[in-house]
Amino acid sequence: MSELAFTDAERAAVYRAIGERRDMRHFVKGEVAPELLGRLLGAAHQAPSVGLMQPWRFIRITDVNLRGRIQALVEAERLRTAHALGERSDDFMKLKVEGINDCAEVLVAALMDDREKHIFGRRTLPEMDLASLSCAIQNLWLAARAEGLGMGWVSLFEPQALADLLGMPAGAKPLAILCLGPVEAFYPAPMLALEGWASERPLSDMLFENQWGES
Ligand SMILES: Cc1cc2nc3c(=O)[nH]c(=O)nc-3n(C[C@H](O)[C@H](O)[C@H](O)COP(=O)(O)O)c2cc1C
Repeated sequence: MSELAFTDAERAAVYRAIGERRDMRHFVKGEVAPELLGRLLGAAHQAPSVGLMQPWRFIRITDVNLRGRIQALVEAERLRTAHALGERSDDFMKLKVEGINDCAEVLVAALMDDREKHIFGRRTLPEMDLASLSCAIQNLWLAARAEGLGMGWVSLFEPQALADLLGMPAGAKPLAILCLGPVEAFYPAPMLALEGWASERPLSDMLFENQWGES
C-alpha cells in the first residue's frame, strides 16, 4: 500500500460513493441548502479538463416557469425517442426517464462557446471538451451521493432548443439537464436494470490484453 494512500475508512468512503451512486429519477420534497449546493458545484469545478480549458458552464434554473418549459422539451423528445425505438416503444414509455418537476434543483450543464481555440489535446480528439464536462458532472454526482442527495442526468432534449431557451451564445451546447435533490432511498441497482430494460455486463467483457477482444 502506498504511503500516500488514504486511510482505510477514507478509501472505503470513496469506493462506497462510487458503488452507491445511482441515476435518480424519483425525488422527495426538500431543499438543497445554498452552502451544500456550493460544495457540490465546487466539486464539479475541481474536475480534470483537457488543456485545463474548464469547458463546463452550469445554469441553475430557479424560475418555475422555465423549469416547466425545460420539462416540456424533454417530454417532446421522449415521445420522439419512443417513436424511433419502434417495437420497444411501449416498454420505453413505461420507464421514468426524468424527475425535472419533482427535484429540488435543476442545473443545466453546458459546453462553453468559443472552444475552437483550445487545441491542446483536442486537435485529433475535439470531443475531449465533452469528456471534460462529463468529468465535472461525475464529480458532482459522486459528491451528491456522499451528501445523501440524488442526481439524475437527463439527455433527452433537442440541444439547440434548450440553448435558445436559456439564451446561450452560438457555439455553446447544453449536454445535461441535472436533477438534484433529496430522495427517499437510492435504487439498489441501475433503474434500467431493475425495470428489465437493460442488463449490466461484467468488467471482464470489457477488459482486454494487448489486442482488442483478447482476455
Ligand atoms: C451521458 C448520460 C446520459 C444519460 N441520460 C439519461 C436520460 O436522459 N434519462 C435517464 O433516465 N437516464 C439517463 N442516464 C442515466 C443512465 O440510464 C444510467 O446512468 C445507467 O442506466 C446506469 O445506472 P446508474 O447510473 O444508476 O448506475 C444518462 C447517463 C449518462 C452517463
